[in-house]
Amino acid sequence: MASFLSYTLISFYFILFLALAGNSNGSYSEELSEGIVMKQTEKTTHLHFYFHDILSGNDPSVIRIAGTPDYSSFGDTYVIDDALTEGPDPTSKLIGRAQGMYAVATQHEMALLMVINYAFIEGEYNGSSISILGRNLVMNDERDMPIVGGSGLFRFARGYALAHTAWFDVKTGDATVEYNVEGALGGNGAAAEMVDLTFALPPGATTESCN
Ligand SMILES: *[C@@H]1O[C@H](CO)[C@@H](O)[C@H](O)[C@H]1NC(C)=O
Repeated sequence: MASFLSYTLISFYFILFLALAGNSNGSYSEELSEGIVMKQTEKTTHLHFYFHDILSGNDPSVIRIAGTPDYSSFGDTYVIDDALTEGPDPTSKLIGRAQGMYAVATQHEMALLMVINYAFIEGEYNGSSISILGRNLVMNDERDMPIVGGSGLFRFARGYALAHTAWFDVKTGDATVEYNVEGALGGNGAAAEMVDLTFALPPGATTESCN
């Protein structure tokens, strides 16, 4: 099976949030003197595919449902049902569809609010989906958006998607976007392994579950 799933591996990692002294400086961020140590044993999955956003022609996969007649003004809102394919060519193997909405949520720059489910129809992930809720700075070469959940084999998914515009037609607005999705996405039931949370323990200390 030639697959959009590039690799799957088990990762064992520790995330340490160890803070220095509490320090607010009147800014919007603050370092806490208490630390949180998270111990996780999770499978990391990587997905790679292309997203085809077609506004032109008789059968567009994007429709504007609200906003101005302009294509990139504050408030413009679109519903999409975009093909996801294995390669950059829109005629390459269909592996799923991106279904949801995006809206121009910025007055002074160009960023979209993305609320989109990526539903897969190929291989072991047929019938499973991941959900992105994120900010898409479309003019950037690489956009980083959160995976906030999933269904089927992707239950409890979390991770991130990196999107890169592979092709763009300035006249029509049609675009092909390359996606690399990475994280604890589940698959083979691995997502059911729960996170072990431990508070304020130095590395190497005996851990106790807090759930
Ligand atoms: C995906 O699942 C659907 C529903 O179970 C099935 O009809 C379809 O043939 C499957 N597709 C592939 C490529 O396995």
